[in-house]
Amino acid sequence: MSKKTVFSGIQPSGVLHIGNYLGAIQNWVRMQHETENYFCVVDLHAITVRQDPAELRENTLRVAKIYLAAGLDPKACTIFIQSHVKEHPEFAWILATLTYMGELGRMTQFKDKAGTKGENVGVGLFTYPTLMAADILLYDTHLVPVGEDQKQHIELTRDLALRFNNAFGATLVVPEPVIRTVGARIMSLGDPLSKMSKSDPRPATYIALTDAPEVIRKKIARAVTDSGADIRFGPEKPAISNLLTIFHLTSGTSIPELERRYRGKGYAEFKRDLAESVIEHLRPFQERYAALDDAEVLRLLADGADRARAVAACTMHRVKERMGLVPA
Ligand code: TYM
Repeated sequence: MSKKTVFSGIQPSGVLHIGNYLGAIQNWVRMQHETENYFCVVDLHAITVRQDPAELRENTLRVAKIYLAAGLDPKACTIFIQSHVKEHPEFAWILATLTYMGELGRMTQFKDKAGTKGENVGVGLFTYPTLMAADILLYDTHLVPVGEDQKQHIELTRDLALRFNNAFGATLVVPEPVIRTVGARIMSLGDPLSKMSKSDPRPATYIALTDAPEVIRKKIARAVTDSGADIRFGPEKPAISNLLTIFHLTSGTSIPELERRYRGKGYAEFKRDLAESVIEHLRPFQERYAALDDAEVLRLLADGADRARAVAACTMHRVKERMGLVPA
């Protein structure tokens, strides 16, 4: 039986944190040997909000290094930069012609990012999901492992694939999201009711993958907790539940076992041990990250783009032919 194809990506904007890692990358690493994989650094998505050019360049390479340091094997995965494969924006245009204003207007990520900008919100933020659909559909992707916040975008991607197929005949594979049951939505350390976000201007609200041990200890010590002293998982304890989730995913110990271990103990001891669990979990990642050679990473990315381009060009050819666009 042939392997299923996986596609996923991360924007090189802000600082990558354990939410990105536990919600998405950890799953990619786990699946990589059973699937055929494409992991993209989605720089064209990042520019939907203004980026400093030098910072964008640096962040793009940093995300690729994070993929490798997290354990993605370049022999099993095609790792590349989105803007190196021009079929992505080309196909996004075609998909935009099949997308309704109402659909894009309903996207919660758009509504959050548009905030109070009114008429001055960028068009790129609005059409962002058509580029994401292009990313996924270009590779005949079956599975898209992401955090919970991306589910709505993948549902739209499925709708667009079906719409295309209905209009022009079976052409595109209809993908499915892969969302973990635990860890798909890691919450902010400053507010357990909003997700941990790399665009949060307050670094104390997230644990960056590259944070030093003493920084991690300090951030966890200061993380908000719930009223009452019990260390228990449940909807009435959103802050402790989030910390228990992080503890579980970084230590492998189940949540009921952690609840038992810390019964009758205070937050201070729990947080101390949690910090050590996170630090130990990130240690091999951070060592690999520090040892990566930029020139070598750039070579891998160039090679990845060559491989991605070959597949994307084939899909574009098929799409254009079906639509009646005359071949060049
Ligand atoms: P981005 O760059 O915001 O986030 C990257 C991945 O991390 C997940 N994530 C989280 N998971 C758990 N808890 C959190 N607090 C948390 N914050 C972020 C996201 O769900 C995502 O999986 N639009 C996408 C990037 C993208 C993409 C794609 C993804 C572009 N094209 C094609 C998949 C397939 C985004 O903004 O992710």
